[in-house]
Amino acid sequence: MSSRTELTAWQALEAHARDMQNKHMSDLFDEDDLRFAKFSLKSPNILLDYSKNLITEDTRKALIDLAEACDVESLRDKMFAGEKINRTEDRAVLHVALRDRTGEPLEADGDDVRAQVKHELERMRSLVAQVRGGDWRGYTGKPMTDVVSIGIGGSNLGPLMVTEALSGYSDGSLNVHYVSNIDGFQIAQTLRDLDPETTLFVVASKTFTTLETMTNASSAETWFLDKAKDKSFINRHFIAVSSNRPKAMEFGVAEENIFDMWDWVGGRFSLWSAIGLPIALNLGMEIFEELLEGAFEMDQHFLTEPLSKNAPVMLALMGVWNNNFLGRKAHALLPYDQCLHRLPAYMQQAEMESNGKSVNWSGERIDYSSVPLIWGEVGINGQHAFYQCLHQGTQIVPADFIGSVEPTVAVKGHHDALMANFFAQSEAMMRGISADQVREELSAKGMGSERIEEIVNHKVHEGNRPTNTILLQKVDARSLGSLIAMYEHKIFVQGIIWEVHSFDQWGVELGKVLANGILAELAPDAEVGAGHDASTRNLIEYYKKAR
Ligand code: F6P
Repeated sequence: MSSRTELTAWQALEAHARDMQNKHMSDLFDEDDLRFAKFSLKSPNILLDYSKNLITEDTRKALIDLAEACDVESLRDKMFAGEKINRTEDRAVLHVALRDRTGEPLEADGDDVRAQVKHELERMRSLVAQVRGGDWRGYTGKPMTDVVSIGIGGSNLGPLMVTEALSGYSDGSLNVHYVSNIDGFQIAQTLRDLDPETTLFVVASKTFTTLETMTNASSAETWFLDKAKDKSFINRHFIAVSSNRPKAMEFGVAEENIFDMWDWVGGRFSLWSAIGLPIALNLGMEIFEELLEGAFEMDQHFLTEPLSKNAPVMLALMGVWNNNFLGRKAHALLPYDQCLHRLPAYMQQAEMESNGKSVNWSGERIDYSSVPLIWGEVGINGQHAFYQCLHQGTQIVPADFIGSVEPTVAVKGHHDALMANFFAQSEAMMRGISADQVREELSAKGMGSERIEEIVNHKVHEGNRPTNTILLQKVDARSLGSLIAMYEHKIFVQGIIWEVHSFDQWGVELGKVLANGILAELAPDAEVGAGHDASTRNLIEYYKKAR
């Protein structure tokens, strides 16, 4: 047995879950007028309502006992203090330092983190002002019109998601495009209508070795030199963001055009660093810094609020409750805001790359679930696609509903209609509709009893499906910063409770290594290695013959 399941707090929750299984949330609401007040909280820029979970005050207390037994608070403090809590990679975890506004000294591995962050932010300000102000000139003397960000995973998903989320605030002075896929279609389509004379590339890669990014960067360079001819012009058109300066320089990026990243920032937590440069180029540095401010506010909340009033902690604990004690193995993210349409994809990496692990801190296999499958889509579109399954399917999938009081762009009649759906869906998932209610409804419509009995079971909706409601005033830079930071800390807390290492990602390495080997075998004269399994070998041979 692993240590977590041996905890008294864990076992108390297992026993409590057996009692709760037979309860219905609808009754819990009917019995307690104060349920919303008890199970919702205000955090910076966000109202979190977690009352539509199958919980009582005893559940919350038992979950907090578990968080305490797992030392959540002391590990949180260690993270903020720059201790090497990423033990498998022997690194500090300091994305919070990237948005820290206190100015207090902070060291990691003997380096003055605060000074490093300040310096790179200053360089970002200067570059953004030059490019956006038209002072940064290309090789023919023209100002930039387009930025192409080349990166993948954490070097793409965050900046892309934020750029989309805040697109309503763009002044349109610089177009930003994102290329991540090694499928040549994406870069070809992106470059088709661009002009090398006015295009600035930002090659974002922490390692500067990622195959997809390097291949796309080389194609971008070829496209650029096709017209510019002279390699010395690259320094007006290529910027790099990386923790591997030598590799970026080897690629041909001028030293002064390289922005630093550090080992203490994980890729999926890096949008706050110069990895966020495309955001700042698109929206301006002021908006980027608002984003940092919003995240900082959430960091302070996470650091100082007691666990029961702490939004990331309660969000994490609801997830643990649903996953580990009620057996829910998936979790949906449902933004009711078109601007947040990339949020589920971004959170998939953040949550699943962080906590998709199956051994604990001692390297022993865990005997409980770590992260559930995270998936989702813009909620209102999902209603007409997969919500049927959320309402009546055999799997119960807890969901986060994310919406805003004010729309980014007000078009008469739209926002209330959107939000009516937002409120209705989670109410329906919680309350459901019983057989008797269905009978009553159909009979009121004049349906005969024989026909009613034929269809009644098909219309019954059991309800009791858990949801969290996350309400922002508006999707703007500040609230988005808070929202992302809230989820980052949720992931951190869950990683502690599951006792998994949230800040490495060694699972993705095997596929990368095999892909590099297979790439060599795809050369026309190369042999396909006998070491492959029969399926892989035959597929590769089929591909080589058929192409
Ligand atoms: O998918 C694995 C991964 O290592 C991610 O963690 C990372 O965000 C992504 O690849 C890109 O890595 P890099 O920034 O080094 O190109």
